[in-house]
Amino acid sequence: MKQDLSPMYKDCKILSHESISPGNFVMTLDVGDMAKAALPGQFVMIKCWSGSEPFLMRPISINDLDRDAGTLTLLYTVKGQGTKLLSQMNTGDVAQVLGPVGNPFPLYEDAKRVALIGRGIGIAPLLLLARDYRAMGAEVYVYLSGKNQDSLYNLKEFQDLGAVVRFTTAPDEVITDAMASDCPFDAAYSCGSNRLARGMKELHLEYDFPAFVSLEQHMACGIGACKGCVCKATEPVTGELSYPRVCKEGPVFPVDQIY
Ligand code: FES
Repeated sequence: MKQDLSPMYKDCKILSHESISPGNFVMTLDVGDMAKAALPGQFVMIKCWSGSEPFLMRPISINDLDRDAGTLTLLYTVKGQGTKLLSQMNTGDVAQVLGPVGNPFPLYEDAKRVALIGRGIGIAPLLLLARDYRAMGAEVYVYLSGKNQDSLYNLKEFQDLGAVVRFTTAPDEVITDAMASDCPFDAAYSCGSNRLARGMKELHLEYDFPAFVSLEQHMACGIGACKGCVCKATEPVTGELSYPRVCKEGPVFPVDQIY
């Protein structure tokens, strides 16, 4: 699959927009060629309000897309003024979209079994990853964790893709325990929980498969200009500390670099 990382800016029509549970929305946009360029793990910057308040576009991870139809789906939670305004948009309205932004999850073409681990809204970027791996013929194991049934996002969509899905809403259960009993894998990916990423890292060290984490971070510009989104990382070879920008060098990092 060709990887084109240069973002484009477009006015995009909202094709559908619905609340799936209190405070959570799914929006599908007509993005044209942006859908062909987008890869799992990338995100878009979006703005749909006129005027300068709030000033900044909001980052939202790509939940799903249809590359042939040129549509892109966002799954988001209302967290502040920008996402509140976004939630008030209607089908037929137009949003300004910059994307795809950020580095995607690396895909391994010879992978036969992969593990995807997500919690809460961090599950969102894993659906497209599952879709692309299923299209490549890989077995996909999905481990979901949420504080309630409503926050086990995309559960049915993962099942419809033919993924093996294991999940928990119990506060005293760690879903990476279920992952441990399914090991080994050829690659693993995590988003939405430090605890789960650390659990994945332990299994990655034990079984020596590549493992990646996608970080969620507050962002301003989203394109690497403001350094408002740096995180703390350790360079794998030298062991030196570094402060990469999540929007530019991430949001996807090898798990060893972050945890
Ligand atoms: Fe500006 Fe990342 S948000 S550098």
